[in-house]
Amino acid sequence: MSTQPSWWQSAVVYQIYPWSFQDSNGDGIGDLPGIVSRLDYLNDGTEDSLGVDAIWLSPIYPSPMIDFGYDISDYCNVDRRFGTLTDFDCLVREAHRRGIRIIMDLVLNHTSSLHPWFQQARASRSAPTRDWYYWADGRGWGRPPSNWNARFGGSSWTWDRAARQYYLHSFLADQPDLNWHNPTLRQAMWKVVRFWINRGVDGFRLDAINWLGKDVRWPNNPRCFGWRGYTRQIHRHDRDQPLAHEVMRELRSLMSAHPDVVLVGEASADTPGGPAAFYGDGSDELHTVFDFRLLKSPWEAPRFRTLIAASEASVPPGGRPSIVFSNHDQSRHIDRYGNGGNAERRARAAAVLLFTLRGTPFLYYGEELGMRDGRLRYHELRDPYTKRYWPFRTGRDPARTPMQWDASPHAGFTTGTPWLPVSDNASTVNVVRHIRTPSSLLSLYRRLIRLRKETPALTRGIYRPLQSTDPHCLVFTRQETEDHVTEQAILVAVNFSGHDTTCSIPGVHCQGTLLLSTYEQEEQGIPWSSGQVVLRPDEAIVVELKRQPFDMLADR
Ligand code: BGC
Repeated sequence: MSTQPSWWQSAVVYQIYPWSFQDSNGDGIGDLPGIVSRLDYLNDGTEDSLGVDAIWLSPIYPSPMIDFGYDISDYCNVDRRFGTLTDFDCLVREAHRRGIRIIMDLVLNHTSSLHPWFQQARASRSAPTRDWYYWADGRGWGRPPSNWNARFGGSSWTWDRAARQYYLHSFLADQPDLNWHNPTLRQAMWKVVRFWINRGVDGFRLDAINWLGKDVRWPNNPRCFGWRGYTRQIHRHDRDQPLAHEVMRELRSLMSAHPDVVLVGEASADTPGGPAAFYGDGSDELHTVFDFRLLKSPWEAPRFRTLIAASEASVPPGGRPSIVFSNHDQSRHIDRYGNGGNAERRARAAAVLLFTLRGTPFLYYGEELGMRDGRLRYHELRDPYTKRYWPFRTGRDPARTPMQWDASPHAGFTTGTPWLPVSDNASTVNVVRHIRTPSSLLSLYRRLIRLRKETPALTRGIYRPLQSTDPHCLVFTRQETEDHVTEQAILVAVNFSGHDTTCSIPGVHCQGTLLLSTYEQEEQGIPWSSGQVVLRPDEAIVVELKRQPFDMLADR
């Protein structure tokens, strides 16, 4: 077996929301040829491009798009809105030619209600796929089998007139849950996995995995205090069953024939043991699992410090942490972290964390520009979840507005009418403008990605928190080994406050070179001597330490 680290261990992954990246045919919806036409922006092998190593594509499968692709009606094809399988093959070819890998989104918990498997299942109790879904009788007229509430609101049970039973759906009624207890369903899904591997994909992002498996005796969930139906119960019986881990182990064992295919998991933050439970023992479940704790945290140094420590402690040896601040389900982090402070400066400091913390960074299209949440009116919303809780929750549509390529009327995204309005700030926040501006966030992302690639301590080094006298400062080192005579160590310091600060780092006495500051436009190479870090408001710095700070206090 190869001892070489796998590609994803040093990769930077870029999430593309296909609806919104680039439209090539003027229908207002992004598509695969559009993505191909923008690959050079992502990585053309030169310093002008962003330099990412992989794309995670949110679902592109045929779908009625009630949940914008997370309701799949055919696992082995491409939705005509996005193109064809031939377009997909072209994307894989063109991406690979540039050294960019492709990670497919794969929804295992549910299909669309329009999937032929479900259509067959609802038509007859003796259909071969009947047991691929969960069916149950009610507890009396109009009373579903249990009190379970769906993630997107309402009961998890819907009465099906044709089937004359209730079926289970953990999200929308249009997304019936698959029954992973059934072995033929598993085989059908593993066929899907092989189908895409044979087409050249390099990994899968596995959606909502802690929902696989239910307590099929249908006991009621205990109630608790919460702000709406779903959070008013403890989800003891409708998720987080041991079966989910069994399925992940089965999938991982299939990957023994495909050691270069990465498995990335998404699980709820409150799943028992946390999402990291899906690493298994570090070698038998997933390679990496999203940890959304930083994403959900306020912009506060003590919180970050505690959450990073918790994340570090939760990943077993053999597992690889992932770092993610934004995705298609959340408000963009420039708006979240920026709330109550200088959003642009904080986004720059967050970028430093994204690329210097230990783990595989996942960035969400447009965050490198500082794209903000779109300000949408009710009639412009598309996502049923966003509509349901509007205006009490920001919802998901604001983070899904079209990519801002240039200052033209639809930001270079489409020549037609975009499916969601382009953000107001596209005339100033766009790729064309930012790519040649050394002080732009995009330039900072490019520098950080390059720095990360050139710096083994950042790609594979260990993480060590350092004490600092200012609680608003987060200071840590990354170094290649625990060894006291190592070659390289990097110190990162982030000022989470809007004030100047001088903080001492007790015990650290060494020389270094300032490699990067979020205030400066170019690499610095300025001599730096430690003991003290002087930071401007919301500033983050990266320093290469010359002599090892081995007397430094690591309060892990
Ligand atoms: C995806 C959402 C989707 C849900 C149901 C989530 O984890 O990220 O976008 O709506 O799963 O598939």
